[in-house]
Order: sequence, then C-alpha cells, then structure tokens
Amino acid sequence: MNILVTGGAGFIGSAVVRHIIQNTTHNVLNVDKLTYAGNLESLASVADNERYQFSQTDICNREQLDQLFQEFKPHAVMHLAAESHVDRSITGSKDFIETNIIGTYQLLEAARQYWGGLDSTAQNTFRFHHISTDEVYGDLEGTDDLFLETTPYAPSSPYSASKASSDHLVRAWHRTYGLPVVITNCSNNYGPYHFPEKLIPLIILNALAGKPLPVYGNGEQIRDWLYVEDHARALYKVVTEAEVGETYNIGGHNEQKNIDVVKEICKLLEELAPNKPEGLNQYQDLITYVKDRPGHDLRYAIDAGKIERDLGWTPNESFETGLRKTVQWYLENTQWVEHVQSGAYQNWLQTQYK
Ligand code: NAD
Ligand code: DAU
Repeated sequence: MNILVTGGAGFIGSAVVRHIIQNTTHNVLNVDKLTYAGNLESLASVADNERYQFSQTDICNREQLDQLFQEFKPHAVMHLAAESHVDRSITGSKDFIETNIIGTYQLLEAARQYWGGLDSTAQNTFRFHHISTDEVYGDLEGTDDLFLETTPYAPSSPYSASKASSDHLVRAWHRTYGLPVVITNCSNNYGPYHFPEKLIPLIILNALAGKPLPVYGNGEQIRDWLYVEDHARALYKVVTEAEVGETYNIGGHNEQKNIDVVKEICKLLEELAPNKPEGLNQYQDLITYVKDRPGHDLRYAIDAGKIERDLGWTPNESFETGLRKTVQWYLENTQWVEHVQSGAYQNWLQTQYK
C-alpha cells in the first residue's frame, strides 16, 4: 500500500509513520507543513528508509495536494495534521479554523477528485481515515459515563469545535459523495516525542529544570491517558481493517486526575533523576496551582469496547508502565528536547504562564 500521512512530523503522526515503516512493507508519504509542532528529528529512525518520503506542504494548499495525490497514488490517507493545543486555541483560534476546518476541507476535495478517477476496485478499497479527538464530545463532569461513538457532540474550546467541524465534513463527504471514510476519536496521548507544551512533557522538563509545575485550577480534572504507540497500532488496524463509514473511539482505560499525574511524575523522577537542581528538596515542592483554563472540561473517559470487539485492539501499556517509559525517554533524549525548546517555544511559555 501507499499511505499518505498528514501531520507525520507531529507527536502522534511521527509514531504512526515509525510504526508503518518499521512493522509493515507499505510506502509512506508524510505531508506536513512543519509548524512549531512539526519536527523531522522525531523521524530520524526512518528518514533514510526507501519506503519513506516527506513533502513540506500546507494541507490548505489544494494545488500542491492535487499534485501529491497524482504522483504518490495513495491507497489510503491518514489525516492527522492539525493545530492540537487547547490553550493556544484559546489565545488565538485563527490557525485552528484554517488548518483543522479549511485544511480538512481541501484535503477531502483533493482526495475526492483523485478517488473519482480510480477504477471501481481501487475506489472500493481506498480509505480516507480522519484522526480526531474525544474532546468533540465535551465534558463528563460529575458523572460515571463514558464517551461512546454515539455520544452527541458538544465541544467546549475553539480547538475541539474545529475538530468537531472537521468530523462533520468528513461524514458529509461520505454520505453525499460516497468517499470511503473512517473516523477515530481518541483520548489523551502521552509518550516519546511529545511537544513540551502539553501537560506530561511540560511537567517532566520543568521539574528537571527546577521550575514551577503549573496545575490549572484545583487539579481535579480527569483525563483518560493512552500511550502513543498503542494509539499508532490502533490507527493502523482501523485504516487497514475497518469497514467504510465506521467510527471508533480509542482510549486507554486510564482515568487520572491531573494532580495525581503530576505527583506520579515527581515520584518517578525522585527514583530516576535523584540529582535535583540545587536547593530543591523534593520535586513535589515545585507544584504550583495557577489560573484555570477558561471553559476547562472536567472529565473525559472513553469506552473503547467497540474497537476491541470489532478489531481485537487493546492497549499494551498500563499508565504505570507507559509513564515510566516516557520519563526514561525524556531523561535519555536531551538533544531532541534541547532542539524543540526554541525561541518560539520560550515565547509561548512566557505568555501562557506569566
Ligand atoms: P501535533 O501538534 O503534535 O502535530 C501536528 C502536526 O501537524 C505537526 O507536525 C504540524 O507541523 C502539522 N500541521 C499543522 N498544521 C498543518 C498544515 N496546515 N498543513 C500540514 N501540516 C500541518 O499534534 P498531535 O498531538 O500529534 O495530534 C495529531 C492529531 O491527533 C490531531 O489531529 C489531533 O487533533 C489528534 N488527537 C490528538 C490527541 C493527543 O492527545 N495529542 C488525542 C486525540 C486526537
Ligand atoms: O483528549 C484528547 C486531547 O488531549 C487532544 O485532542 C489534544 O490535542 C491534546 O492536546 C489533549 O488535550 P488536553 O487539553 O487534555 O491536554 P493538555 O496536555 O494540554 O492538558 C491536560 C490536562 O492538564 C488538562 O486538564 C489541562 C491540564 N494542564 C495542562 C497544562 C499544559 C495543567 O493543569 N497545566 C498545564 O500547564
């Protein structure tokens, strides 16, 4: 197969590209604009593989997309390119509307035109896999409920509203034009190569630097954490095995309060990085409660029963094993960390945590 992956230089996209190149015989074309969140160093292990190609392309650029479809002739598209950080969507939503909504529209149209020119056998096996988030379902505050594939959409942030819009576009392109789509909605990912604007890598790196560990509000918010390589395996299963038109929720059954995640990281660091910055007694002493995120969703939790029943997928990592691996990875990959902590990243930290 030829698989066109958008956003393959990002956190999850790079795990998907590494998974496909290292575990299958398929060819991958990685289409990525390389925003602040895109990093080709996350693909160093596959960059020289002859089955891997990269194109620096904005998914809003229809002409370039058409050319890539004609040249690469994909059997499947895995669409991960997006603006992905909720806090950035609150301080500036424009890029989220452009990439997540307009970009998805342009990609759907490029895919539809290309797919329309295929013979009927190739049309039937083609897949457009849209990778989305559980945040489209909104908030499970004060309940024991889990998100199902049938849960009504109720997005809270500009980010989740833009992802919800893109999900609607993808379903409409299936129903109206017959484009063979599949959609997945996943919970919070964590693991290697995670950009340190997100909670887990931010806490690990701030703690190692002896900086405050910012906890929004009271820290009681709950997220359902999934190790990124488990997500990559699930996505590959869906794109190669799922029936057209299906939606799958993907999650780790690892519900954790934010404050407990932060404390767990501190505990692991006490064991794995006992030489602390000067004057610091315990990593936990750095925990600092800060202003809450506006519109903050209190709880997300996924029912991943359908993907388990239909496709036999379950996560390999528990939160305990995955978090340990993650902390180890950040301790061992200081060069990757230094390179992503650019000037632009420092500006974001100063604005967000002033
Ligand atoms: P990320 O921010 O780490 O990476 C996004 C990638 O998209 C980057 O490489 C960036 O350069 C690229 N990109 C952005 N705008 C682009 C454009 N206009 N054209 C081409 N490329 C562009 O994101 P991530 O955390 O890896 O998330 C990937 C996808 O998975 C997103 O669609 C996100 O909504 C979804 N998702 C993420 C999570 C999570 O926990 N991180 C959970 C569920 C779903
Ligand atoms: O649920 C899936 C979503 O998970 C994805 O769609 C998003 O792309 C991804 O970024 C993630 O969104 P969250 O907002 O849940 O992730 P983030 O790491 O930003 O925050 C996790 C929780 O931690 C959230 O409740 C906010 C809180 N938080 C975050 C940061 C950055 C803090 O308390 N302090 C912080 O400094």
